[in-house]
Amino acid sequence: MSDLSVNINGFKLQNPIMPASGTFDTALGNLIDFNQLGAIVTKTFTADKRAGNPTPRACELPNAMLNAIGIPSKGVNHYITETVPYYQQFSAPLVASISANTAVDFAHLAKQLDAVKGIAAIEANISCPNIEEDGKAFAMQADSTAKVVKALRAATKLPLWVKLTPNTGDIVSVAKMAEVEGADAVVIGNTLLGMAIDITTRRPKLGNIMGGLSGPAIKPIMIRMVYQCYKHLSIPIIGCGGISSVDDVVEYLLAGSTAVQVGTANFVEPTIMANLISGLEKYCDNYNISRIAELTGAIVDEKCTPFTALPY
Ligand SMILES: Cc1cc2nc3c(=O)[nH]c(=O)nc-3n(C[C@H](O)[C@H](O)[C@H](O)COP(=O)(O)O)c2cc1C
Repeated sequence: MSDLSVNINGFKLQNPIMPASGTFDTALGNLIDFNQLGAIVTKTFTADKRAGNPTPRACELPNAMLNAIGIPSKGVNHYITETVPYYQQFSAPLVASISANTAVDFAHLAKQLDAVKGIAAIEANISCPNIEEDGKAFAMQADSTAKVVKALRAATKLPLWVKLTPNTGDIVSVAKMAEVEGADAVVIGNTLLGMAIDITTRRPKLGNIMGGLSGPAIKPIMIRMVYQCYKHLSIPIIGCGGISSVDDVVEYLLAGSTAVQVGTANFVEPTIMANLISGLEKYCDNYNISRIAELTGAIVDEKCTPFTALPY
């Protein structure tokens, strides 16, 4: 049997499959065994309680969905006293996804989690608005990424994953800065900013007007970003965006991901993560791949000649 384990900068996972933050909850445990997962990444929370965005908060689109949930949060105390103890019954490591409005607040929250038994790593969702930068997400720019990652790194000894936004025009510089300031891995990435209008009512389909696009439609964009970043980073990349099959997972690995996160597909096929793990085992057996880690960055990317590049 093939070895599905992967190593995220010293943090070993039994396989590369984990949920993307915000796309599952405890009820999914009735359908799949959480012990099987590479890791469990929970919904982003903030230090204080927060209400989410106005409804409607989500809408379906061809091969995609738009959401503007807005990170409703029960606060850090609820996370420590309720969420962490619940997930401690499972052997899969718990990754706490956090968000804050300033670098100082991010660091303060990370410090609070540092000593909490049962949290294996922190995922900093820096795709959220930075109120010191007129509400632009930290990860839109390399300098604001540097500031927040530096503060986080100083605040926690836990493995630090930094989740980036594909909305930046310069993903490579942003990812590189996260590495320079001490991130253990980058997650590429969050949703793409989008909008949809109901032509019968002429109103936006989301209460928040704009929201994050996710699902299979975004996969080629995220694969491209993983590929670009892999050439410039020494830390692992966790790929995320539009994964709904074993082939998608393999594509992310070949582009340069060490592990992957599965989001929207959990709503369509709630057993997908378990199916992907067993499917990856079969895939490796069929292709005589002894260690799945061999696939990371294994794309054959010799430059195509114009003749071979044309599909017709
Ligand atoms: C309903 C919904 C809620 C989400 N909530 C969060 C969240 O709390 N924190 C976060 O970092 N990303 C959140 N995301 C983004 C996902 O984690 C993931 O990055 C994105 O959906 C792309 O992956 P996918 O195409 O597989 O869904 C959310 C996505 C959806 C669809």
